[in-house]
Amino acid sequence: MTLLSVDNLSVTFATNDGPVRAVNGLSLELDAGAALAVVGESGSGKSQTAFAIMGLLAKNGQADGSVRFEGQEILGLPERKMNRIRAEQIAMIFQDPMSSLNPYMRIGDQMIEVLTLHKGMGKTEARAEAARMLDAVKMPDAAARLSMYPHEFSGGMRQRIMIAMALLCRPKLLIADEPTTALDVTVQAQIMDLLAEIRTEFDTALILITHDLGIVAEACERTIVLYGGRIMESGPTEELFAAPSHPYTLGLLKAVPRIDIDQEELAAIPGEPPDMSRLPAGCPFAPRCPLKMPRCETVMPELRHHDRLRRACHAEPGAVAA
Ligand SMILES: Nc1ncnc2c1ncn2[C@@H]1O[C@H](COP(=O)(O)OP(=O)(O)OP(=O)(O)O)[C@@H](O)[C@H]1O
Ligand SMILES: [Mg+2]
Repeated sequence: MTLLSVDNLSVTFATNDGPVRAVNGLSLELDAGAALAVVGESGSGKSQTAFAIMGLLAKNGQADGSVRFEGQEILGLPERKMNRIRAEQIAMIFQDPMSSLNPYMRIGDQMIEVLTLHKGMGKTEARAEAARMLDAVKMPDAAARLSMYPHEFSGGMRQRIMIAMALLCRPKLLIADEPTTALDVTVQAQIMDLLAEIRTEFDTALILITHDLGIVAEACERTIVLYGGRIMESGPTEELFAAPSHPYTLGLLKAVPRIDIDQEELAAIPGEPPDMSRLPAGCPFAPRCPLKMPRCETVMPELRHHDRLRRACHAEPGAVAA
């Protein structure tokens, strides 16, 4: 069953330099309980896509298109209704965990507040549920930790608290924006395992935003590759990683450290991501693309099906892998 359906979403920011088109004609579908990765370099529009879905764009931002959640259009809903959806249906974990925890409030009180407000629980019941949730994210000695403040926890533990908070009201969709970027590698792996486990337990759909392709394959069955606010390629993660049909995806993959093969060097994609206020007329990736042809600079390729993938590229798919 389709849970989330985004159609032709665009995000435009008004700035002194003119309009910045951060997201451009993005469409995606997500089934209940499924997991989708959104990958791409810094500035490609990942977070703004999430903020547009959540109705959390900055004041100078405008979202156009359609975002349907369980069939209901939620783009442009009044704040009061959107607040409810954010609290109870779609939860988000932000890039910086401290930004969404109140530093002056014990974590137990923060969790209890959410449950009394949105689930109508009494305090005793809410406290028990908060402890249960902390226990579910494998917080040792959960009940006792409820009376601690956010700064008393390590980064990894804070991220567990964030996950517990996000899942308190049993949302159907969790959007996790770089949930492990601030953590070291072993803790990253633990958090990703935990997310997988807890998603299965609560049947939560996931949109995982990351520039770390290393964590995607295990976590998400489908992947969208963004560049310059546009989908460059999307499809089943396994196929996309095994045989990318877009030169940008290939470039991203070559920049991932691998332990299974001998790598001479990590090849970062040469050049810089585009200036979003001065996007070229054609493909945004053209200036950095090894397969660039003249028309790439003038005509944006449409997103077309190629086997089970969708790709926006003028080059033949075979030319990419070669
Ligand atoms: N309030 C704003 N006003 C103008 N431009 C903005 C605003 N917020 C974001 N942008 C621009 O939107 C573009 C996309 O930003 P976004 O935050 O989605 O990137 P991202 O893919 O999440 O990158 P990162 O990996 O660094 O988090 C960027 O060029 C950014 O500068
Ligand atoms: Mg971001």
